[in-house]
Amino acid sequence: MLTIQFNGTPIHVGSLDAAPFKDLLADFSTCKKVIMVDENTHDCCLEYLLTAFPSLEDAEVMLLPAGEENKALEVCYQVWSAMLEYQINRNDLVINLGGGVVTDLGGFIASVYKRGIDFIHIPTSLMGMVDAAIGGKNGVDLNGLKNIIGTITQPKAIFVDAGFLETLPPEEVFNGYAEMLKHALILDKNYWNQLKSLNSEEELIQIQHIIRSIELKKQVVEADPTEKGQRKLLNFGHTLGHALESYFLSKKSIAHGHAVALGMIGESYISYKRGVLSQEAYREIEQCIIRIFPMLEIPEEAIETLIELMRNDKKNERNALNFVLLNAIGSAQVNAEISPSEVGEALLHLSLLAQHGN
Ligand SMILES: NC(=O)c1ccc[n+]([C@@H]2O[C@H](COP(=O)([O-])OP(=O)(O)OC[C@H]3O[C@@H](n4cnc5c(N)ncnc54)[C@H](O)[C@@H]3O)[C@@H](O)[C@H]2O)c1
Repeated sequence: MLTIQFNGTPIHVGSLDAAPFKDLLADFSTCKKVIMVDENTHDCCLEYLLTAFPSLEDAEVMLLPAGEENKALEVCYQVWSAMLEYQINRNDLVINLGGGVVTDLGGFIASVYKRGIDFIHIPTSLMGMVDAAIGGKNGVDLNGLKNIIGTITQPKAIFVDAGFLETLPPEEVFNGYAEMLKHALILDKNYWNQLKSLNSEEELIQIQHIIRSIELKKQVVEADPTEKGQRKLLNFGHTLGHALESYFLSKKSIAHGHAVALGMIGESYISYKRGVLSQEAYREIEQCIIRIFPMLEIPEEAIETLIELMRNDKKNERNALNFVLLNAIGSAQVNAEISPSEVGEALLHLSLLAQHGN
């Protein structure tokens, strides 16, 4: 068992069946427990939890609908009402067992219920383990805009047990890989060199790669917990990525990791066109991502809408389009102001990649 201390929150990496989780349950033995799951983690992960830890048998299980479209206030209202009905109090515990949607949603629900009750995350997707469960950001989407309502509240503890990944569908493993690549691109060339040619799911979920991502995220968030400066580095690929994710949400939705992968190509392209990133590095990034993620045709008439979505992105100030740009593989800069035409060019380039591939 490895424990990484992160802003006062322990991240325990290893089997859930080890001392830290049992100790936590003992600490909360007299309190009520609420377990948040979605339909898939209900079927694939909950049974293990309830059979391995009999003290959880009495827990209230909240079954959330799966999918990004349910990361919404409407779902929160229902859960808060149920929590009131079950008389969940301030000293009780919420256990979020799921991917990034469950940890974002469950963390938000717990962080404001009765002005905040304790919660822990047990991420079950690769995305959750390497990124979503780490860092204390909780939230929901509103009016098609990603994570626009939320809190920054740290969970009491995080338990990363890679055993849960056994049932994760392959495409979801690749979604987590996108955020691992992001950590490497903004901070660690050596890690990028380890990740860039991995192909199989087994290779991607190796524990040393998961741990390296957690360490890199910790390094950035601890230096800037409230996102005044360097934490914005983590938004690399997300300004374009969130806009694409929002745009396609009401059509044929695309996964967060897929959107970020496309966003990273687009934002690397802008970096290259600005002369900040070398052409060689840009090509290396493009090839690595194209090998794994399907490219997407973006209708020309969508470009204005996408730029508007980026302007509404909560990361932007004074209506400007602020991006994270890459200086090189393993090094990035925040707060680069980008013109709408540069963004449009990057979106057209992404679309061209899709047309060439088809
Ligand atoms: N808070 C943050 O800092 C942060 C960072 C990155 C991403 N996110 C958020 O995370 C979300 C994406 O996370 P995600 O990719 O985990 O999505 P997700 O939670 O929707 O999980 C993906 C799919 O995998 C299923 N699943 C999860 N674990 C499983 C398992 N062990 N076995 C079988 N199926 C399983 C889920 O039910 C879902 O269908 C987005 O909403 C994104 O905004 C948040």
